Amino acid sequence: MNYYLRTMDAIIKQIEVYSNEINSFFAADAEALEQFRIKFLGVKGIVKAIMGEMKNVPVEHKKSFGQTLNAFKVLAEEKYEAEKQKIESTNIASGFSLDISLPGMPTPSGSRHPVTLMRNRIVEIFERLSFTVAEGPEIEDDWHNFTALNLDENHPARDMQDTFYLSTDPAILLRTHTSNVQIREMEKKQLPIRIICPGRVYRNETISARSHCFFHQVEGLYIDENVSFADLKQTLYFFVKEMFGEDVKVRFRPSYFPFTEPSAEMDISCMLCKGDGCAVCKRTGWLEILGCGMVHPNVLKNCGIDPEKYTGFAFGMGVERPALLKYGITDIRLFSENDVRFLEQFSGV
Ligand code: DAH
Repeated sequence: MNYYLRTMDAIIKQIEVYSNEINSFFAADAEALEQFRIKFLGVKGIVKAIMGEMKNVPVEHKKSFGQTLNAFKVLAEEKYEAEKQKIESTNIASGFSLDISLPGMPTPSGSRHPVTLMRNRIVEIFERLSFTVAEGPEIEDDWHNFTALNLDENHPARDMQDTFYLSTDPAILLRTHTSNVQIREMEKKQLPIRIICPGRVYRNETISARSHCFFHQVEGLYIDENVSFADLKQTLYFFVKEMFGEDVKVRFRPSYFPFTEPSAEMDISCMLCKGDGCAVCKRTGWLEILGCGMVHPNVLKNCGIDPEKYTGFAFGMGVERPALLKYGITDIRLFSENDVRFLEQFSGV
């Protein structure tokens, strides 16, 4: 820009023009203010350039010309300061400070629920064995929750005392286990099936430190030709080692479930007392972790799968119990109270 002017008069006129520009200046944002500073107050700016004219001014005019120049400089500086203040105060009012040296505002980070953390860990281990997640409804019909699973009409689990039925339609209920997903997947008849089914289940139980009317399970199902009990054991051994560590011992106890034959209960050695016996394992040295077995031929038939051709294993485990053990929690009710003081302890876990 050509602001280098030769005569005093011309310079004074130019100063007037610039003064008007300065007076009417309004910094819309920090960027505009910076442009203003560079233009008028920068090292190569107008104020500096005009100041440079002093040396050409005849001695007798130096005083009054100097005063004019100085007033112009002060005008530019004061305008700059005033606009800067305005921008800073609006930034503060809108919650954003320009002072980049201020430490940042800490962002509170959320946390996953301990039951979610444990469920994810369980699922992730089985995913490494090529199991995929399948889900099903929590409001279920009698067929998928009981009948197809070979539970006869008089089975005690069907009792009103144990199961929440819909009062408008007693054939509809809140699922008592995630085994309903087994049936729904088998009915699709896309074999082989290798699924892991996490979900919430409901039982009509008195709420205490150890039991609740709802909790979470993870069910597993593998159906193919030639699946054996050895496959079941090997799969669960792998799970236990990954979940609880190399040192943990495993035992299977014969058990009964209407939907599996043979059926077993799997225990692991108590990791708190290392099998010596403590309050948590009720002095037995063992903790019951899951139920399992070979899928009953009737269940396969109920889903239209040929039990002569296909076999399979299934297992089901609770999520709350291992979460209690892992995080040293003593009351299951804490999981559903939504107390932030409890929940925030799991951030970063
Ligand atoms: N459904 C059983 C329960 O809720 C758990 C279970 C046991 C699931 C054995 C299975 C199984 O798939 O094979 O107690």
